Amino acid sequence: MSRRLEGRLVVATHNAGKLREMRELLAPYGIGCVSAGELNLPEPEETGLTFEENALIKARAAAIATKLPAFADDSGLCVEALGGDPGIYSARWAGESKDFAGAMAEVERKLVAAGGTTDAKRRGSFVSVLALVWPDGHEEIFRGEVHGQIVLPRGTAGFGYDPLFLPDGHSRTFGEMTSEEKHGIPADGSTALSHRARAFQLLAKACLA
Ligand code: IMP
Repeated sequence: MSRRLEGRLVVATHNAGKLREMRELLAPYGIGCVSAGELNLPEPEETGLTFEENALIKARAAAIATKLPAFADDSGLCVEALGGDPGIYSARWAGESKDFAGAMAEVERKLVAAGGTTDAKRRGSFVSVLALVWPDGHEEIFRGEVHGQIVLPRGTAGFGYDPLFLPDGHSRTFGEMTSEEKHGIPADGSTALSHRARAFQLLAKACLA
C-alpha cells in the first residue's frame, strides 16, 4: 500500500542541480525540500550492486539522520552489448574530473570491441531509480527507463552521456534536446521521455496524488 508524501522532505544529495530539479518537481504538490548537503549530512558510500540498492542506501541514511522522509535517486546508462555497463558505475567512468567526453569515448571503444557495429547491437537505456524512505522504515521505490540507440555523440545540451543517446522514436539525441523536451512532465498525463521524469511520474501517482 503506497503512502502519501506530505510536508517536508530531505533530498539525499550533495548535488545542487539534482536538488533544484526536485524542488521544481515537488513545489506544485506543496512539498518543501532541504538537502543532505545543506544539513551537512555525511555522504554514505554507494556499496550496492544495483540502482535500487544504492538509492535505498542514500535515502535510508538521510531518513535516519534527520527523522524526516527522505528521497534519493540513482541513475545511469546501460549498454546491452556491454552487459549493462557502465550502469551503476556511470558517474565513476568519468572519473574525479567528470570527463564525460572521455567516458563516452570509452563506451564507443568498448562497444565496437564487443561487435557493436549494427543498430541492433548498439541498444541501450537510461535508468533512474527513485527511493522514498520514511523515518519509521516505510519504503517506496520507483524505476523509470528509456530505451534507444547508442550513437556517436551529438549535441551540447544536457549533461553526462546525453550526446550519445538517441531515444527510440526520435531523430535527435538527448544532447540535442531542450531540457523541457527531455525532462518535461506532459500536462496531458502522457508518458514523459526521460528515465528520471518517468520514474517521477510513477512516484507522483503513488505518493502525491
Ligand atoms: P548518480 O548521481 O550516482 O545517479 O550518477 C548518475 C550518472 O549517470 C551521472 O553522472 C551521469 O553520468 C549518468 N546519467 C544519469 N542520468 C543521465 C541523463 O539523463 N543524461 C546523461 N547522463 C546521465
